[in-house]
Amino acid sequence: MKLDRVIARHRSLGRSEAHRLIAAGRVRLEGVVCTSNQEEVDRFMKVELEEEIVQQAERALYLILNKPPGVVSATRDEEHRTVIDLIDDPGRHTLHIAGRLDRWSTGLLLLTNDGRWSKGLMDAASKVTKTYLVEVNADIPTEAVELFARGMEFLPENIVTLPAQLTLLGPRKARVVLHEGRHHQIKRMFGRVGCLVTALHREAVGGLSLPPDLAPGQWRKLMAEEKQLVR
Ligand code: URA
Repeated sequence: MKLDRVIARHRSLGRSEAHRLIAAGRVRLEGVVCTSNQEEVDRFMKVELEEEIVQQAERALYLILNKPPGVVSATRDEEHRTVIDLIDDPGRHTLHIAGRLDRWSTGLLLLTNDGRWSKGLMDAASKVTKTYLVEVNADIPTEAVELFARGMEFLPENIVTLPAQLTLLGPRKARVVLHEGRHHQIKRMFGRVGCLVTALHREAVGGLSLPPDLAPGQWRKLMAEEKQLVR
């Protein structure tokens, strides 16, 4: 929301009255006087009008977790342990998952309470890459490389997958780079070439790789530069 609307709502004022207060230097955003009434304000920013707190900043959380197998990527589940159960931050119940992994998949999982950030990551249009290490139950046919690159038709969604890079690392092992995240995408793509996925591990999202010192089940806050790397 723009700063003028935040101020106008708070004091039940008209927009022009809010503009006047802002232009007079009476409004602080994150502790700094802001005279631009079109400044975008989100719920993680503190807004003050003279000595009055208009909006308290909520704590933004950006976490990375090394998902172990068997834990579900959900905020709630009746039957199974969820990734939220692995987190002991007091804000854990405000989190959502930015790009799920299936129950038996492992590796890099991002969690946040910032919906704008996660939307930017998950939008197919933003084309943030996801890199997976995959093991399958049969030899991967060499034409799979071309088929992954060409894109596959997914009928229920009526889409063609974006070109994906498949690199063969062994007869039954490969690295795949996706530019989107469709439901069970890797399993479905390997299914088309006659292979059943037996292990699936997410190594990286964008330029951010799973830190080698983050053991399965462990999590930590993302550092500012890691947050940038994702995009
Ligand atoms: N594709 C899948 O099929 N499963 C995952 O967990 C991630 C990508």
